[in-house]
Amino acid sequence: MIEIKGLSKVYDMGKSTAVLALREIDLFVGAGEFIAIMGPSGSGKSTLMNMIGCLDRPSGGTYSLDGHLVSTLDDDELAAIRNTKIGFVFQTFNLLPRLNALQNVELPLIYRGLPPQKRRAVALEALGRVGLNDRTHHRPTELSGGQQQRVAIARAISGSPAIILADEPTGNLDSRSGEEVLQVFQDLNDGGITVVLVTHDENLGRHSKRLIRLWDGTIKADDLVSNRALAADILAAMPPVVPVAPVPSASQSMFGSESMFGGLVS
Ligand SMILES: Nc1ncnc2c1ncn2[C@@H]1O[C@H](COP(=O)(O)OP(=O)(O)OP(=O)(O)O)[C@@H](O)[C@H]1O
Ligand SMILES: [Mg+2]
Repeated sequence: MIEIKGLSKVYDMGKSTAVLALREIDLFVGAGEFIAIMGPSGSGKSTLMNMIGCLDRPSGGTYSLDGHLVSTLDDDELAAIRNTKIGFVFQTFNLLPRLNALQNVELPLIYRGLPPQKRRAVALEALGRVGLNDRTHHRPTELSGGQQQRVAIARAISGSPAIILADEPTGNLDSRSGEEVLQVFQDLNDGGITVVLVTHDENLGRHSKRLIRLWDGTIKADDLVSNRALAADILAAMPPVVPVAPVPSASQSMFGSESMFGGLVS
């Protein structure tokens, strides 16, 4: 699936300076793997992710994705392969605030040229896979952080990518929401999607099946994760969330209990 050989990336900073961000990296990732890329700040994680995600081209070496030699493609070909093969998830969800969950997931499908009924069906299915059937008409501000990230994941999987590429996807989340997001990734991976996570977070790394550590642009370690953390088990062991009863405001109570829940139930 991902075949990287002797890959280097040099950022040319003008006349005399250049940064060697990746130094002759070899990396093979098979279909269905779940890897975490870890390493200190500046070690080359984002640079490597940009390469894997076809957002940038290497300075040296080769990268082939699903048999396509990415390192030789032009910009249009790079965009085409990115759109069909890869789903991106970022730390800052990147949802459009005026659109509800369903519309946010549908948006890239419009650009793909899917007819309205088809894209609605695909978007609903994707939202179902991340457990948000009951939040399809909520806007981002009406969703928790974890729910927003799950909308972003639904958007990423709506194009049926072979790979999900996530950069610090739980960085803005509390521990329960983060664990719920990790459960979604683990479920998707169980369903066959290859997952690549980039993170500083050792806990997040333990949820992968294989941990790759970068150091100064090289791979320092590449190990299978023993005692892998399973999000479903961790969530089951967490204390249950006690629902807080809504306190009716003076204006709401005038209209009875139905309107009191009107904003919560779509
Ligand atoms: N666009 C750029 N131009 C010049 N140098 C860059 C550029 N992007 C990254 N670098 C340099 O390349 C090296 C690797 O950067 P990279 O962003 O890949 O690190 P990282 O591991 O993602 O770090 P962090 O954990 O802080 O996000 C760093 O020394 C950085 O300064
Ligand atoms: Mg980075």
